[in-house]
Amino acid sequence: NKKIVIAIDGFSGCGKSSTAKAVAAQLNYGYIDTGAMYRAVTLYFVENHISITDSKHVNEALRKIEISFKYNDKKGRNETYLNGLNVEDEIRKMYVSDQVSEVSAIVEVRNAMVSQQRKMAKSKGIVMDGRDIGTVVFPDAELKVFMTTDVKVRAERRQKELLEQGEAANLDEIIENFKKRDHLDTTRKQSPLRKADDAIALDTTSLNFEDQVKRIVDLAFAKI
Ligand code: C5P
Repeated sequence: NKKIVIAIDGFSGCGKSSTAKAVAAQLNYGYIDTGAMYRAVTLYFVENHISITDSKHVNEALRKIEISFKYNDKKGRNETYLNGLNVEDEIRKMYVSDQVSEVSAIVEVRNAMVSQQRKMAKSKGIVMDGRDIGTVVFPDAELKVFMTTDVKVRAERRQKELLEQGEAANLDEIIENFKKRDHLDTTRKQSPLRKADDAIALDTTSLNFEDQVKRIVDLAFAKI
């Protein structure tokens, strides 16, 4: 079997990560959550009071930031590490979500993350999800999927997820956060979120999870 790169892009909260993870598991591929990387950088900036307009400190910080992923057997999930510390739960909190789009619009931040992402996928057989994977990180990916979902449906799903992690969040606030991030992500100068011309559009508003995973796995099988 030929190994390929699968790029999954789309709006915030469309279920890209959980879908990508399940696709990777079925194909026995590696999985890289690029949103988690931008979230980890955001957390570092918040904790170290780094202003996003201060390019000297931004660059200094980027040299000190080391992001990695490690599988947690007990929890059955991949977890994000920032300079050796497990930050998986912290980076999902709303205060990080509120600031991540501003941080990810910084060109130096993007350059640093993109080069790390390319290194991580050196050996093929990778599913990577984000905003610019099919357009910038891997323009030659053999399979590109662009996911969309109605914003209210996205918000209801996220609210449930946050609640399961013990964070009660207001539905309107979540909708506002998604809309704000959608706007910032699609209108920014650096690698704006857009569907690559050769990406396959997948609207998951009325698909259940198993079906959306199967769609992508079937598309992958057609390529390998
Ligand atoms: O995927 P997730 O919602 O966790 O991503 C958080 C934020 O990181 C996005 O709203 C976006 O601003 C940024 N991001 C990005 N490029 C990527 C992945 C995420 O700019 N490849």
